[in-house]
Amino acid sequence: MTRLYKNIVILTGAGISAESGLATFRSSNGLWNNHRVEDVATIEAYWRNPDYVHQFYNEMRPELYNAKPNPAHLCITELQKKYPAHIAVVTQNVDTLHEKAGNQNVFHIHGQINQIVCMNCGHVFETWGDVSSEDKCEHCGTTGMLKPNIVFFGESLLYMDQVDRLLNSCDLFVSVGTSGVVYPAAGFVQFAKMFGADTYEFNMEETSNNSLFDKHIYGPAGTTLPQFVQQLLADVPTKEEMSK
Ligand code: OAD
Repeated sequence: MTRLYKNIVILTGAGISAESGLATFRSSNGLWNNHRVEDVATIEAYWRNPDYVHQFYNEMRPELYNAKPNPAHLCITELQKKYPAHIAVVTQNVDTLHEKAGNQNVFHIHGQINQIVCMNCGHVFETWGDVSSEDKCEHCGTTGMLKPNIVFFGESLLYMDQVDRLLNSCDLFVSVGTSGVVYPAAGFVQFAKMFGADTYEFNMEETSNNSLFDKHIYGPAGTTLPQFVQQLLADVPTKEEMSK
């Protein structure tokens, strides 16, 4: 029997959504869709040409709206329902497949595609529709200050206070489908390990920055993660065992 965990953190990257048909970032036809990151994912690019940046995310929105969660997302919901621990999902993904799968406690540290933030008043609202530099904030009424609520390079990540607390107390840290090259997410395993967590990495292949993981499970997350969830659930004591 493995340890009975109390606080589980699952960090996800683009690889968990690959089997839902979404391209990862660093694959040959990656999510940047042949755009240079400097042209579509920096605040300088946004100020230079907001409508070019809006168009990039406007084009991405319908694909992510139509995408469906795969077994890797779905098994997290099963784990959250059946395993007696606090289980949080910290995702670098801007898609909403964790929510579509019914996952709870999801933190989008890189933002999400269906949210817009007003840079004048900070108001965040949801839309799957197109946005342009002519649109007005529904809260403060300012025109031309709406930005996709996606963390651009050089901006601070979202929810970091909550994530720090989660990492400090987690006893199982699971990383799924991330290349581990973009910080600070790539460093989360180090914090979790420092605080005594067991650490597991799920990926298709060996990643470059993975020596802090206790175990590496290679293969498609849609197969390997549900198997791992079943192993965890098999180790949950029954009510009778608990009351002994
Ligand atoms: P990457 O594209 O860097 O890495 C995806 C990882 O998923 C790779 O290591 C693949 O081997 C793995 N992978 C692919 N298919 C898989 C599958 N079916 N099962 C398991 N693993 C699979 O994506 P991220 O690590 O998410 O930032 O990239 C991190 C950040 O870099 C992104 O959030 C984005 C980008 O710049 C922002 O947008 C701010």
